Amino acid sequence: MHKARRNKAAAAAESLLPEPEPEDEYRSMPPSAGKNVVVFQPMGRRVSMKGDKTLLELAQEAGVALESTCGGKGICGKCRVQPSQQGSSPSEKELELLGPDAITGERLACQTSLPEGGVVWVPEQSLLRQQVILTTGHRRRIEIDPLLQAKDITITFPARDKPRSMTDFLLEAVPGSDPSRLPLSVLQELPTCLREESGRATLVTGADREIIDVTPGWGAPCLGLAVDLGTTTVVAYLFDLATGTPLAVEAGMNPQVTHGDDVISRIAYCGEHPHGLHEMSTLVRESIDRLVRKACVTAGVEPDRIMDCIMVGNTAMHHIFLGLDPKVLSQAPYAPVADNWVNVKARQAGLSLAPEAWLHWLPVKAGFVGADTIAVALAVDINQVNLPTLILDLGTNGEMILAVTEKAICCSAAAGPAFEGGHITYGMRAAAGAVEKVVIDPSSLECSLTVIGDTKPLGLCGSGLLSLISQLVTVRAILPNGSFNADKMNTRLRSGPEGLEYVVAFAEQNGLGRDLVLTSKDVAEIQLAKGAIRAGVEIMMKELEVESLGRIILAGAFGNYLDPDDARNIGLFPAPDHCLIESVGNAAGEGAIMALINRYHRNAVNSLTRDLLYLELTTHDQFHDYFVDGMAFPDSEKEAK
Ligand code: FES
Repeated sequence: MHKARRNKAAAAAESLLPEPEPEDEYRSMPPSAGKNVVVFQPMGRRVSMKGDKTLLELAQEAGVALESTCGGKGICGKCRVQPSQQGSSPSEKELELLGPDAITGERLACQTSLPEGGVVWVPEQSLLRQQVILTTGHRRRIEIDPLLQAKDITITFPARDKPRSMTDFLLEAVPGSDPSRLPLSVLQELPTCLREESGRATLVTGADREIIDVTPGWGAPCLGLAVDLGTTTVVAYLFDLATGTPLAVEAGMNPQVTHGDDVISRIAYCGEHPHGLHEMSTLVRESIDRLVRKACVTAGVEPDRIMDCIMVGNTAMHHIFLGLDPKVLSQAPYAPVADNWVNVKARQAGLSLAPEAWLHWLPVKAGFVGADTIAVALAVDINQVNLPTLILDLGTNGEMILAVTEKAICCSAAAGPAFEGGHITYGMRAAAGAVEKVVIDPSSLECSLTVIGDTKPLGLCGSGLLSLISQLVTVRAILPNGSFNADKMNTRLRSGPEGLEYVVAFAEQNGLGRDLVLTSKDVAEIQLAKGAIRAGVEIMMKELEVESLGRIILAGAFGNYLDPDDARNIGLFPAPDHCLIESVGNAAGEGAIMALINRYHRNAVNSLTRDLLYLELTTHDQFHDYFVDGMAFPDSEKEAK
């Protein structure tokens, strides 16, 4: 019934999950684990209760990562656990979200506290899963011409008759550099160069003849780092700046996901907790440091040889990383605190690289068009298009650029978390157990599924969800207005507690123990997301007087795994038959690499950002009309004629 794919990636993902312990151990545990102690099973993590904390907060303290798409607001229903003791009483809203599972004692961890302590069973599907992370772009050839340069120099012992300071040798090697601005770390290394290497040293210089580093010995590596900081994942690319050789790529989940899947939840967390911003910023800085250490081990180098770092990410990630209050991004007019390059020493930003290493954030364009979109624009070279080209980066936010010859416009549409499986009854990340492709038989409505990893299906990731809906639209089990077609009811398309629903996998075929279904409400969520994207595309086309798209570029993880035919079938964008649709992988990461290893690309960012027009959709007078029209699915019957 399902095929195994991406087994390697899934195995890697699984290896990050806590080692499960035998179920019997949980079953044989005493009902209470000790007064005021909560034990999470099957991983056996204990935590003492302090104050009136929810089980979600206690799980985070105990290092048990639970899915918490809504950041603990009791909306997503993903943080299900089974406490052994009677806890705080469930609200009606919680009971509604739990459905029949409430009878078996399941609770939402974010809505439950156990005043006396106890044992809490964590079902497998509630554990945060490592997403399959996209690290590669379309591998454009990038000429090596970095801003930073390393060269070998020799410092000789001062002659008795003509004593001179060691710094003179540096100033001779870099004429015009300011002697009063030599970093202390450089001065401290100079005697070591004489003592240990007979004066041989590697000197690293940056912009404006700045001396950044001196280290004993010739030929010491001069390394650069490019970081793509996403809402869900973080990718770090390590490069040798002298040769442009990629040395290592490391990727991980953004640890902030335990505080919600989308940027709005993260911004809210920063505002609602006394040290929320510091906490969120620290989480992500530490995770980048971890990735850097891993990358350095892989490459056999030391982190203190990393002299330059380029970062990209959406505006909320940019603000939170830099410790800038992101609240301004959630309030009209959604203006960022800073929109230019942010150039700081890496140590100021809390990263453990070389003592004088620089960290540069690419500019952001607007509150919801971030440095990642600018990096995508750089990677796909929007200044060189010869056909009307749409670049779409879909995530919790849809960021898009429409480029024509000598002109480009961008906007952002709040697609919500539906494309990443959020707010969908059985939605999940693109991790092991996620259905990623569906094929439906038009007469029986039976389906065959492609599942990530060698496992039974547990839920639907974004590409699987769109594949499923595309198939249901094609076989007319879903009508253009988004409702299920009652004329096609059978064992698969049936009546459920919330109206008609489609059974993707029956209980005995999946790893959930209950039927995995797509509900009418789920279809409506996708319609809202699709309506927002489609409206953004149509309004940009109107602004640039584009009648028909010639090329569509899908960027980012979702764009990479999304089948272009599915996107076309559900009417995500207007794509005539002649329109070329292609995926470019992690173009944001590629743009960051380009800025790291080629100074002309780095400079090009300024004009590109300046010339890119910005369109604010929330105040556009025709947005609502385009949005409503965009929610409808194409009529497959009409198109077949
Ligand atoms: S319902 Fe608990 S985290 Fe969303």
